[in-house]
Amino acid sequence: MTTGQFITFEGIDGAGKSTHIGFVAERLRQRGLTVVTTREPGGTALGERLRELLLHEKMHLETETLLMFAARREHLAQLIEPALARGEWVISDRFTDASFAYQGGGRKLPFDKLRALEQWVHPHLQPDLTLLFDVPLEVARARLDATRDLDRFEQEKAEFFAATRAAYLQRAAEFPTRFRVIDSTRSLEQTHARLDEILATL
Ligand code: TYD
Repeated sequence: MTTGQFITFEGIDGAGKSTHIGFVAERLRQRGLTVVTTREPGGTALGERLRELLLHEKMHLETETLLMFAARREHLAQLIEPALARGEWVISDRFTDASFAYQGGGRKLPFDKLRALEQWVHPHLQPDLTLLFDVPLEVARARLDATRDLDRFEQEKAEFFAATRAAYLQRAAEFPTRFRVIDSTRSLEQTHARLDEILATL
C-alpha cells in the first residue's frame, strides 16, 4: 500500500487558514481518500494539555519552543506517522514552519536552534505540501478583532506579526517545491478555485 500524504496549513493569526481546512479535507474525501485532520500545538491528549499551557502561561522563549517540539514529537509518534503508514492523508493546522515563523521570526529565537530541533524531532519527514495563507497585517488584525477573545500569541503587536509573516515567506522561498502561497485577501470562491487548482496537481 502506498503511504498517504501530509499537508500542512500555515499563516499568521487571522489569515483564514482554519476556514479552508474543511474544504480541502472534503475535496480529498470526495476522491475516496481517508483524511485525518489535526492541529498543532495539540493533536494528541498530551499535546492538547501542552497547548493550554502554551497559549495561556508566560514562559521563557526556549521553554515555549521546546514545548512546541515536545508536543510535535508526540503528535508524530501517536498520530501523524501511523496514519501516513496506513495510507491515510493527514492535514495539520500548523506544523514546524509555525515554529520558524513565530518563535524564530516573531520572537527572534536564532534559526539554527530551530533547525537543530527540526533535525532532532523529524529528520526524515517534511510535509508533502504546505499551504501558506498570506494576508497583510491589517486584514489579519481586523479578522481577529471581529471574531474572538485573544490568546497569548494573538495579543502580540503588529511588529511581531510583520516578523512572523516575513519568516513564513522566507521559509516558502527556501522550500518552493513544498510551499504554495495563497493570497488570502481574495474572496472565498477565488480561494476555493485556487485550492482546487493546487489539489489537481497532487
Ligand atoms: P492557531 O492555529 O492560531 O489556533 P486557533 O486558530 O485556535 O487560535 O494556533 C495557536 C497559536 O500557536 C498560534 O498563535 C501560533 C502558535 N504557534 C507557535 O507559536 N509555534 C508553533 O510551532 C505552533 C504550531 C503554533
